[in-house]
Amino acid sequence: MKLYFAPLEGITDGVYISAHKALFSGIDKYFTPFISVSPGFNLSKKEDSLISFAARNPGICSVQLLGRDASHLKQAIGKLSQAGIFDIDLNLGCPSGTVTAKGKGSGLLRSPDALKKLLDDLFASPLASHFSVKTRIGYESSDEWPRLAEILFSYPFSEIIIHARTRTQFYKGKCHTEIMDQLPLAGIPVIFNGDIFTPSAAKELMSLKRPPDGIMLGRGIVANPALAEEILGLTVLDKSRLKRFFDALLFAFSESMPFNALHGRMCEIMSYMGVCLDGSKKYLKRLRKAKARDEYISIAEEMLYQLELSSQPYFDPLSLSESGS
Ligand SMILES: Cc1cc2nc3c(=O)[nH]c(=O)nc-3n(C[C@H](O)[C@H](O)[C@H](O)COP(=O)(O)O)c2cc1C
Repeated sequence: MKLYFAPLEGITDGVYISAHKALFSGIDKYFTPFISVSPGFNLSKKEDSLISFAARNPGICSVQLLGRDASHLKQAIGKLSQAGIFDIDLNLGCPSGTVTAKGKGSGLLRSPDALKKLLDDLFASPLASHFSVKTRIGYESSDEWPRLAEILFSYPFSEIIIHARTRTQFYKGKCHTEIMDQLPLAGIPVIFNGDIFTPSAAKELMSLKRPPDGIMLGRGIVANPALAEEILGLTVLDKSRLKRFFDALLFAFSESMPFNALHGRMCEIMSYMGVCLDGSKKYLKRLRKAKARDEYISIAEEMLYQLELSSQPYFDPLSLSESGS
């Protein structure tokens, strides 16, 4: 069974991936957040550094592209291959209104015919050696899935990654695990994504009649960076590694960004990782109010020193919304 680290905008950049990979094992592949494809594939500084990271670290991550125009996507794939990047993923899942309004991300699922035309054009000539797709199971309803699955599974994707929710669900509501029984038998490996936050959730998924070939972990592994190891039965999280991970992130962000940006990044990550420490809420609140790097570090050190590791260090969607994130 493969274990992948999901693309998470604002979290899984090169700095985060490097720190995670240095301290935790069990992940077969990381995914960059999506890069929106424009004519000429002009990149922002942030996107450029994602691509440089992927090019410098072959075999570690897949670069995710978001687009709806086959010629622009092909141009982007060509430029990535010139940079030595041959593992690329197509985003058919982003639920954001600004993205779907342009017919991109999960917006492409609204029109199966347009999706088919895009894939016909894309696959008309050779693509990257590993070209996967990350999709949702419908725009409004899971009833759309059989038709979408029929289309997706008829192209030679290297893997199909399924976030088992519709666009309308965003990240809420139950994942439709029942769709695992409705997959065409096309020989394409299937990776399941959505709400796998604990080793027991992974076990349950793998005991389905038709288990996936792998699992993509998202918020669950940001909350507990040792989740892949726990799923594999290798080890459980300990406080010293949690602290080393925190220090590694803080140090690397300090090198590359001013305090305001660092503060935003660390608070976002800590809003998930807080579940690892019992009673972290009041510290997370203080961390959010910190005005300077030294103040932030001293609160974080106090938190990591004072608090015990939680006996259930697992992501809980309710706790995130309570903390206002
Ligand atoms: C903050 C955030 C950013 C995300 N960014 C991306 C992205 O860039 N590309 C993508 O395909 N999915 C993105 N996702 C979706 C995740 O990859 C994943 O599908 C989702 O979190 C469900 O998996 P989980 O329940 O394991 O978290 C994002 C989700 C969140 C919460």
